[in-house]
Amino acid sequence: MNPQRILRQKLEDMQRAGVTDVSRELLELVSLISARTPPPSSAASTALMPAPQASATPPGTSRTTATSTAPVIRTAPVSSEVEPFPRPSPDRPAEHRRAAIAIAPIERQFLPSSLGDLPKEFSASMTDSRRPCSTLSRDKRVAGLSAIAAQVAACTRCQELAETRTQTVFGVGNPEADIMYIGEAPGADEDREGEPFIGRAGKLLDRITEASKLTRAEIYICNILRCRPPGNRNPTPDEAGHCREYLDAQIETVDPKYIVCWGSVAAHNLLDTKVAIGKLRGKFFDYKGIKVLCTYHPSYLLRSPGAKKDVWEDMKFFRADMGVKLE
Ligand code: URA
Repeated sequence: MNPQRILRQKLEDMQRAGVTDVSRELLELVSLISARTPPPSSAASTALMPAPQASATPPGTSRTTATSTAPVIRTAPVSSEVEPFPRPSPDRPAEHRRAAIAIAPIERQFLPSSLGDLPKEFSASMTDSRRPCSTLSRDKRVAGLSAIAAQVAACTRCQELAETRTQTVFGVGNPEADIMYIGEAPGADEDREGEPFIGRAGKLLDRITEASKLTRAEIYICNILRCRPPGNRNPTPDEAGHCREYLDAQIETVDPKYIVCWGSVAAHNLLDTKVAIGKLRGKFFDYKGIKVLCTYHPSYLLRSPGAKKDVWEDMKFFRADMGVKLE
C-alpha cells in the first residue's frame, strides 16, 4: 500500500476511535512519509498593500487559547535585559509555557494547497480567499503542520544549508494563533535545539512579548528560513525562495489574523519589497488578508538599544488594533 493510503487509513481509524491527539498517534509513521515525499515546487505570490488601520478584530474574539494540546511543553526562562519594555504585571507570570509542534505525518487531505490537495474544509480559491483554514479544528492544524514539518526535515533544496545544519527549525507555538511571528533564520542555539528564537535575541523577544501582554503559548513563531545559514549570514534570495513554500503553508494552516515581521529579512521577503525597515514600521500591510506589522529584529535591538523605544511604539500600535492598551 502506498504511504498516502496508509496514512489515510490510519487517520480514518483514529477518527472513528475519537482520537484527538493525532500528532502523537502518527509519529510512528513519520519516517515513511519523509522517505517518500518528492520535493514540492516553488513559491507563492506576495503583495505589498497598506492594510486598513481600523480594527477588523473586535476585542474578545480571539480563538487563541493559552493552553495547548500540543505534545511538547517547555518552560523558557526570561531574560533581564530589556529596558525600556515594562516588566510583566504580577497577574501575568514572567515564565511562560511554550508549546512545540511535534513532527508527525498526516493524511494528504489536510495539507495546504501549496503542498498538496485542498482539504474539503478549505474554500474554493486559496489565492484570493481570506482565512482559508479558519474552519479547521486544532487537531487538523496540528496534523497539517506536522506533515509540513516532516517535509521540511527531509528538505535538501539548499545544498549548503542541508549539509551544514544540525537539524531543521520548523516553528513552534499555537496552531490556532491569532498572531504569527516571523524572524529571519535559525542561529546557533536554534540549530542545536530545533526551536526558533531561543538564544539571546529570543530572550529579548520573550520580554517584548510579555510586556505586550502576550505569552508564547498564544503565538506561532517561525522564520523565513528553516535551516541555519553558516556563520549566521543573511539568507540568499534563492534560499528564501526555496523555503517560501513551507512558510506559506505554515501561514495558511495557522491562518493568523496578524503577522509580526521581526527585522528587514522577514519584512522584505514576506512582503516582497526592498523598502527600508525603518520606513515599513509603524503601520500595517496586507498579506492575503492578514495584517502585517514590521519592526526591528531583536538582534538589532541588542546592538542598538536606542531602537527599543521604536519597537515598543510598534507593539503599542499593534496591540491597540487588537483592543489591548499598553502603558
Ligand atoms: N533570529 C531569528 O531571526 N530567528 C531565530 O529563530 C533566532 C534568531
